Amino acid sequence: MPDTVKPVNDWTPTSWRGLPAEQQPEWPDEHALEQSLKALSTLPPLVFAGEARALRKSLAEVAAGQAFLLQAGDCAESFYDFTADSIRDKLKVILQMAVVLTYGAGTPVVKVGRIAGQFAKPRTTPYEDVAGEQIPAFRGHMVNDDAPTLDARRPDPARLIAAYHQSASTLNLLRAFTKGGFADLSQVHMWNQQFVASSREGERYEAIAAEIDRALRFMTACGIDLGSEESLRQVDFYTSHEALVLGYEEALTRRDSITGGWYDTSAHLLWCGERTRQLDGAHLHFLSGLNNPVAAKVGPGATPEDLVALCDILDPAREPGRLTLISRMGSQRAEHLLPPLQRAVRDSGHPVVWTCDPMHGNTFVSEGGRKTRHFDDVLSEISGFFTACRATGTWPGGVHVELTGDSVTECLGGAEEIVEDDLELRYTTTCDPRLNGRQSLDLAFRVAELLRAG
Ligand code: PEP
Ligand code: CO
Repeated sequence: MPDTVKPVNDWTPTSWRGLPAEQQPEWPDEHALEQSLKALSTLPPLVFAGEARALRKSLAEVAAGQAFLLQAGDCAESFYDFTADSIRDKLKVILQMAVVLTYGAGTPVVKVGRIAGQFAKPRTTPYEDVAGEQIPAFRGHMVNDDAPTLDARRPDPARLIAAYHQSASTLNLLRAFTKGGFADLSQVHMWNQQFVASSREGERYEAIAAEIDRALRFMTACGIDLGSEESLRQVDFYTSHEALVLGYEEALTRRDSITGGWYDTSAHLLWCGERTRQLDGAHLHFLSGLNNPVAAKVGPGATPEDLVALCDILDPAREPGRLTLISRMGSQRAEHLLPPLQRAVRDSGHPVVWTCDPMHGNTFVSEGGRKTRHFDDVLSEISGFFTACRATGTWPGGVHVELTGDSVTECLGGAEEIVEDDLELRYTTTCDPRLNGRQSLDLAFRVAELLRAG
């Protein structure tokens, strides 16, 4: 696929610096920051331009209604929760969800993790009140520490380098898992973790896994050499994160030696958050010059005019696969807020992927002071999204969720009926509450049903 994004206004990886940039950390030591960014700019790319082009091609299939996008992972990756097991378990639940969606809806699933780079967080308020003292908000481990002390919250540019190295190790393991046998369809039973397997969702999954086994045995018996079928042995798994700390993204933006286009090599797909999508701001400008596939969150404040202007900035060539719009309206609002936006985007000729983030419009604080979400609200936003898409003739292109493979108790409800008191049991997220393994699988079954219902 040729590079067709035409950088406007003399775009360069540094040209965002002339524009207002929201949500940037207040680095205390400018010199130390420059040193870190300089070091980053000499480090090898994390992903390759050809891979980003392959993702763009797959997303073009989603835009055409021929595939479904599953984008999932942590709200914020952690420097502490960094083990082979936690990466493997997150991959397991994403692979399980993809199997349920592919098998249940007969649709190919494009798999993109919020992983290997999701280390920076936008905040609603820059300061937090801790025992009467105002301390800087936690902005992700790429910037500062989550511990609630003044010292821990001081932005430290050495963390940019640490985030790069953790991303590289995570990506290395993901590549090994997805290309080295772990994602082989014959392993489909192995992805069911013990605490999930004994549950109702786990049993439903096992039934699909048994049918897949039978189909594979049938094909072998027919003389088909499954060993040579790469698509059964390996999975294409892509990475993504919010392009928030622009100095970091700039330092990893490189010119592709084959096409000459600019690629942000920190991830395959970069998105712009709800708080940084100002039309005249640095974030949209930065994304506009990249040749990676890009995305933008779209919240309840978006107007049709603004959204079309955003599409004009990010997708000037009107190219399928280039731009994904991630709706995050809130459970009661998706159904009626989305149709005018979807119609305006369609009439403007931008062939975007529409996907639903049912998490960020549904966050609230429990009586015990924990940030949480209710599984019913998550499902209800997805259902409202599908209703809106049906009303406008738009393909419901995907879901964007925060999850973990572990059996955490961060979101309420689901088949285990997690209640407010349970939030204290296993609440380990560094930022927003995530669906646990069972809730994630349950969600995949519900989405497959919605897709089947057409
Ligand atoms: C996020 O995806 O973690 C996030 C902060 O989302 P939003 O920009 O939609 O609020
Ligand atoms: Co989040």
